[in-house]
Amino acid sequence: MRHMLSLMDWTAGDLRALLDLAAGFKADPLGRHGSLTGRTLAMIFEKPSTRTRVSFEVAMNRLGGSAMFLSPNDLQLGRGETIADTARVLSRYADAIMARVFKHNTVEQLTAGTVPVINGLSDKLHPCQALADALTLRERFGSERAVELAYLGDGNNVCHSLINGAARFGFGLRVGVPAGYEPEREIVDAARAQGAKLLITNDPREAVAGANAVYTDVWTSMGDEAEAAERQRAFQPFRVDAALFAHAAPDAVFLHCLPAHRGDEVTAEVIDGPRSAVLDQAENRLHTEQALLFTLIARG
Ligand code: CP
Ligand code: NVA
Repeated sequence: MRHMLSLMDWTAGDLRALLDLAAGFKADPLGRHGSLTGRTLAMIFEKPSTRTRVSFEVAMNRLGGSAMFLSPNDLQLGRGETIADTARVLSRYADAIMARVFKHNTVEQLTAGTVPVINGLSDKLHPCQALADALTLRERFGSERAVELAYLGDGNNVCHSLINGAARFGFGLRVGVPAGYEPEREIVDAARAQGAKLLITNDPREAVAGANAVYTDVWTSMGDEAEAAERQRAFQPFRVDAALFAHAAPDAVFLHCLPAHRGDEVTAEVIDGPRSAVLDQAENRLHTEQALLFTLIARG
């Protein structure tokens, strides 16, 4: 059974093929309408979502299938039914499961079922976001490989999937993080072992210098709210403002997975400026997820 818990579960060739397919769906959204007629995606959300929820639902609709939103509070999961039993039962009704969870281990346990599982964000990884980001880089620069990407901020889920993306798609990645917020060593080492070009630094300018794209994420992720004040202090030097962005290449683009907090991790001038590609990234969630659903469900 094939899943999408991490980009590292897929080969570089298969991921590039997914981007090719996504570009096809972007050009012809209903080109494979009917390929998932009568098929259902069960979507479990332990945390809020705008993009993930809507893009997956629209992607299923464009393929002729449908998606079902499930909140743990409404499921027996919230009353102690095991994750494995939930997955096995959902597998008897639905053709795939997408889940946004607090603990990465929860998406792993969902693989106890018999249908593909897609990670719609965990504390550790956000592979669907990195897929959309790779497509955005390909569109902007002609190839996802010929890019030096700077990521500033928390070394958690989005950063980890970009690190995996550096290993699989071949773009160079410089990660600028405050001390104590570095990405997990295991993820960095595994990506380097597979050829990723990575720089990890506590100096935001070193990360941004000459980069083709500058990416940031919220300073306080969902689930980390108790640390918000401490994080607010630690991340100040990593705010992407016009002065920091000016250290990137003159034609550099600005990226953000969204939702964004203007005035915290990025200024309005940068995110709302002419070199911001954040809406393309958000749109590309839809096309890459349509490609992913088609590959996992229709092709099996
Ligand atoms: N980027 C992203 O995953 O957005 P949502 O939290 O709105 O799904
Ligand atoms: N790092 C953020 C990403 C949101 C899409 C979070 O986990 O809240």
